[in-house]
Amino acid sequence: MRILVSGGAGFIGSHVVDAYVAAGHEVAVLDNLSTGREENVNRAAALHRVDLRDQPLVEKTVSTFRPEVVNHHAAQSEVPKSVADPAYDAQVNIVGGLNLLKACADHGVRKVIFSSTGGALYGEPDVVPADEDHPVRPLSPYGTSKLAFEQYLGTFRRTFGIDYTVLRYANIYGARQDFHAEEGRVIAIFASRMLEGKPVTIDGTGEQSRDMLHVGDVAMANLAALEQGSAGTFHVSTGIAVTVNDLFRKLALLTGYGLEPAHGPSRKGDVYRIALDNKRARQQLGWEPRVNLEEGLSLTVDYFREQVAQPRL
Ligand SMILES: NC(=O)c1ccc[n+]([C@@H]2O[C@H](COP(=O)([O-])OP(=O)(O)OC[C@H]3O[C@@H](n4cnc5c(N)ncnc54)[C@H](O)[C@@H]3O)[C@@H](O)[C@H]2O)c1
Repeated sequence: MRILVSGGAGFIGSHVVDAYVAAGHEVAVLDNLSTGREENVNRAAALHRVDLRDQPLVEKTVSTFRPEVVNHHAAQSEVPKSVADPAYDAQVNIVGGLNLLKACADHGVRKVIFSSTGGALYGEPDVVPADEDHPVRPLSPYGTSKLAFEQYLGTFRRTFGIDYTVLRYANIYGARQDFHAEEGRVIAIFASRMLEGKPVTIDGTGEQSRDMLHVGDVAMANLAALEQGSAGTFHVSTGIAVTVNDLFRKLALLTGYGLEPAHGPSRKGDVYRIALDNKRARQQLGWEPRVNLEEGLSLTVDYFREQVAQPRL
């Protein structure tokens, strides 16, 4: 199958590209390399260095490659950035996304698979784990832009007959996650700082919890969505809430880190406790997480150990 992966040079998108290539598909990547990296892109996939906001170039990429499926991972993906500059977030995630979707409608794309968020849609959930029917009430412009694009997918299916699958991700971690990220990516930050023997600061008490899923499992969900999950919305998650303090302890063990953590102020607008029910994905996508937390953390520490040994230029 011919598949265009937007954001295929980024953390998650590049693993999805690898899984598609390994399954024998013909893959091309659309990415402006704003946070993605050329060396993340699988050699078997052609890289089109295109910004989603550049409508004529997006159109040209789709009309030339003529994909059967478009897997849409390119995004402004940082919650704090969306708070600081909501218009930029909307330009990339809504207007840029629509440039791609319109090109799909104009050039016979059968299906769009969209990487949405579970963590930024529900606010503080009424029940944990929350399922996909939990009321949505995003706390950040990022959550709102992701939700808006989900709605557009429904509209384009009804009006132009393009199929879609929405995958609402939990907190994803693993190799290639931005090593220098300042915000959010708790495992990448803890692991890299511990390996360098640097102090680690936990926001607030550390008793806040998240649903942490390994990126290898996310790639498998994107593989399943090629043929399953028509017009559906699915949590891609573990269903388990793990505290930041737990993550600190497990990573300290794996890295041999002996320092005590510092505690900073809790982050404004942060959800306290969340996990996402994945029953629907198990039943309808035939997908389930296979990498448990211990295994996933160990794989991730191995990756960051190599990065620390060979720092990027
Ligand atoms: N990391 C997570 O835990 C998580 C959770 C929920 C949803 N998501 C979603 O998954 C997707 C991938 O996230 P990620 O963590 O891999 O982030 P990432 O920043 O590594 O990947 C985003 C990719 O999109 C590209 N991009 C950004 N703006 C672009 C533009 N204007 N035009 C073309 N390309 C552009 C970047 O260069 C990058 O390669 C995003 O849509 C994100 O919202 C991620």
